[in-house]
Amino acid sequence: MEIRTPRLILRSARPDDLEAMHAVLSDPRATLWWSTPPHETLEQTREWLDGMIANGPDHPDFVVERDGRVIGKAGFWNLPDVGYILHPDVWGQGLASEAVGAAIDHVFRTRDIESLTADVDPENAASIRLLERLGFIRTGFAERTWNVGGVWKDSLYYALTRADRAAATAGQAPA
Ligand SMILES: CC(C)(COP(=O)(O)OP(=O)(O)OC[C@H]1O[C@@H](n2cnc3c(N)ncnc32)[C@H](O)[C@@H]1OP(=O)(O)O)[C@@H](O)C(=O)NCCC(=O)NCCS
Repeated sequence: MEIRTPRLILRSARPDDLEAMHAVLSDPRATLWWSTPPHETLEQTREWLDGMIANGPDHPDFVVERDGRVIGKAGFWNLPDVGYILHPDVWGQGLASEAVGAAIDHVFRTRDIESLTADVDPENAASIRLLERLGFIRTGFAERTWNVGGVWKDSLYYALTRADRAAATAGQAPA
């Protein structure tokens, strides 16, 4: 399964994505608000990647490639909940908007699903901004939802309906 956007390829994960995904998931800048602490061993990333591959080639969860380099992942490990992480080297160029937007539009096109969700740390300004730009609407807040490496984290909850997405992309050329 492969999706092309102007700058990116989103595709199913493969075993040889291990090193590149480890570079992302072991970087403490990238995992600051992630659901796990930075991966310390390649084995941890292998297990994570095996889980992604086990979801199957039709599952809408994607490794993100730019110019042949794997820069992260975007999609739905667990539908309808969206998840994304990119290598800090590539932040701030609109690449998450492009990748996550494409994954969302793919799901709305191919699945009979009315609403997507997101769970984000209230301190994760970049992710909150990204969700709102994509059209997500805040639906709730809960304290102490995740214990990551012994530290309790809170959650903001977001949802995106088909109508919200259509409103957010009105006037934009489809990717
Ligand atoms: C969240 C993340 C994917 C964003 O990637 P990115 O490619 O830099 O995002 P984009 O360039 O598409 O920017 C999306 C929006 O966020 C804004 N933004 C980016 N970094 C920001 C920051 N540090 N603070 C505030 N806003 C920020 C951008 O300006 C943009 O908004 P705009 O369209 O109004 O200008 C990236 O920071 C990341 O991988 N973080 C670590 C993993 C993570 O936290 N995942 C989410 C778990 S819920």
